[in-house]
Amino acid sequence: MIPAPAVPPAPPLTPSTTPTPSTPSTPSTPLTPSATLTPSAAAVEAAGSVPTLVIDTSAVTANVRTIGAVTDGEVMAVVKADAFGHGTVAVAKASLAGGATRFGVTTLAEAIDLRGAGFTERVLSWLNPLDADFAAAAAHEIEVAVPGLSHLAAVRAAPGLRVHLQLDTGMARDGASPEEWVALCREARAAELAGLLTVVGVMGHLPCADRPGDAANDAGRARFAWGLQSARDLGLTPDDHHLAATAATLSDPLSHHTMSRIGAGLVGIDESHTARLRPALTLTAPLVQVREVAGGTSVGYGHSWRAPRDTRLGLLALGYADGLPRLASNRAEVLVGGRRRPVVGRISMDMTIVDLGAGPEGPDQPREGDLATLFGPGDVGEPTAAEWAGWAETLEHEIVTGLGPRLHRITVGEPPVAPDSDRPTLTPNLIGPR
Ligand SMILES: Cc1ncc(COP(=O)(O)O)c(C=O)c1O
Repeated sequence: MIPAPAVPPAPPLTPSTTPTPSTPSTPSTPLTPSATLTPSAAAVEAAGSVPTLVIDTSAVTANVRTIGAVTDGEVMAVVKADAFGHGTVAVAKASLAGGATRFGVTTLAEAIDLRGAGFTERVLSWLNPLDADFAAAAAHEIEVAVPGLSHLAAVRAAPGLRVHLQLDTGMARDGASPEEWVALCREARAAELAGLLTVVGVMGHLPCADRPGDAANDAGRARFAWGLQSARDLGLTPDDHHLAATAATLSDPLSHHTMSRIGAGLVGIDESHTARLRPALTLTAPLVQVREVAGGTSVGYGHSWRAPRDTRLGLLALGYADGLPRLASNRAEVLVGGRRRPVVGRISMDMTIVDLGAGPEGPDQPREGDLATLFGPGDVGEPTAAEWAGWAETLEHEIVTGLGPRLHRITVGEPPVAPDSDRPTLTPNLIGPR
């Protein structure tokens, strides 16, 4: 029931003639909250009055353990792009606690930041322009990938570097082509003999690891085996040979070699869909405003949704500037008051509207200030980032790396512990904002 307005009504807006493009589900049946309070759930309670991203480092530690259990090789924690948007330092520490032994990043800047944060483990940086500061890499004992002859020349000019020769194993993206590979190995060996560098690794990257069994992965593995043998035949003695990232590590033991480079898997993303990893992020936002609208009311920019009945709309103060994909408008759902509620109207730069349903007045009816969970691990029925990716026709990586700087961030989880030491009781541990 819409109560009688206390002030003279505004002139009616012309009902939109725009058809409703999709029919978001009506608010569903309540979901039973889980009895255990996860660190994320504890932080959700603490999150308070602003859109907040909770990073659960104990999920990262658990994921690294899960992945480490399927391979005899080392686990390199790939913490590029601010550890996939989760916070480099927290994820790096949690990865070490789970058994990772070293780090991988794209840029030298990211690698030097790890050193600045006090990490002394081996770090590999694999994507640099020819004029990158390789002398700084040598000074910080950062290893670099060499994807071709021109990069080898640049790297030779900064003596003392430990390098990983990078072979293109089927992506035509980064790494030397098979045609260039033999010359690269030969020149690298000459540079080694001249005391200019040490080849410590050979690396590749599979193109279709998210599709276990794809023939392109067989071809990539075969090319990598050929490349490694060629390097050895030319006198190189790389201790590290690494091909697999998350999906291949979890689904293709033949790809394992001496090390796996794990990025997405740290934070709970497995594109091979073969493991149960735990998402590490929870995004919440309070309802900043709740309004009652009459059936037929058109909502948001472009009037892309019209209320099919009298209802209550909740406003969340975050939008595409914070990383919510606009394509998820009229498709996504959020959890409010124990129920999934549809996102209606266009997600705008700073605002998202949720249909709370008409419902009877009462304690269960969401009110201003109540918290909405946009996504999380799914423990209490909230959507996951994977669902948002589906609504936005993209992949989870893009959702989690696209979250904006305006979001308040808090990190929770177990204090980092050594892999084999006694694990402390699971308690929410607010490590504090980054
Ligand atoms: C060369 C290389 N290795 C490893 C990774 C980590 O891959 P994933 O996130 O699938 O574990 C990436 C990420 O894109 C990469 O480019």
